[in-house]
Amino acid sequence: MTKPTWTTFFIMAACFVFISGFVISGASADDHGRKKRERSRKRDFANSYQIPASYKESCGSCHMAYGAYLLPEASWRKILSTLDNHFADVVHLDTEAKQQVADYLFTNAADRNGGKIGRQIMKHSQGYASERITTLPVFQRKHRKIDPAVFNRPSVGGMHNCIACHAGAEQGDFDDDRVSIPR
Ligand code: HEC
Ligand code: HEC
Repeated sequence: MTKPTWTTFFIMAACFVFISGFVISGASADDHGRKKRERSRKRDFANSYQIPASYKESCGSCHMAYGAYLLPEASWRKILSTLDNHFADVVHLDTEAKQQVADYLFTNAADRNGGKIGRQIMKHSQGYASERITTLPVFQRKHRKIDPAVFNRPSVGGMHNCIACHAGAEQGDFDDDRVSIPR
């Protein structure tokens, strides 16, 4: 009688260890996913949405300073290699300023940033290295309900002037709860 009881006990104990192993690993996988999402959310608001002062000085004098996460690295490379004919304008930067701009743009580009906007841009960019944010499919889709005449209002100053409607655009805040179109 003792022998079978011990065997039964052993089998049950082994089963218990096996099952609880599954439960624990399942729970920690869940926990891992939650922490990962949390980290991604924090990254969205923190690190690469901050624009360095040197970048704003070099690239924010004619228009707002566009965050690096708004275009993929390939687009920024194209833009920086054609600064002598930048949308019919000329952008003069010395070697040091150009290096700082390149460092910021390449390391925080849409395909490097990992944040929500960057991911959306990459998902719909179809591998095309656009030199404009405003021609990106994701941009067109997000603004499809806005009458083109609205963008032409003097108070808006064009589609590319994000900051006219998204006051926090230079801090990476494009939340539609805080958007306000000037009259
Ligand atoms: C001398 C003025 C000037 C400076 C300095 C300048 N830009 Fe521009 N940029 C322009 C003009 C003009 C346009 C076209 C705006 C329009 O659509 O009418 C433009 C457009 C852009 C666009 C496309 C916006 C869109 O429509 O999506 C990007 C991206 C851009 N610039 C990036 C940069 C970067 C990066 C730098 C710094 C290296 C920079 N710009 C510095 C004049 C300037
Ligand atoms: C004329 C005002 C206006 C301008 C200029 C404008 N936007 Fe918007 N944007 C809006 C409005 C309004 C919405 C919300 C649209 C909706 O919910 O249907 C929006 C939505 C967005 C969203 C989606 C936000 C979300 O929570 O889903 C992003 C991202 C965005 N804009 C980026 C930009 C960028 C980048 C620029 C400049 C290149 C820009 N916008 C220029 C008015 C503007």
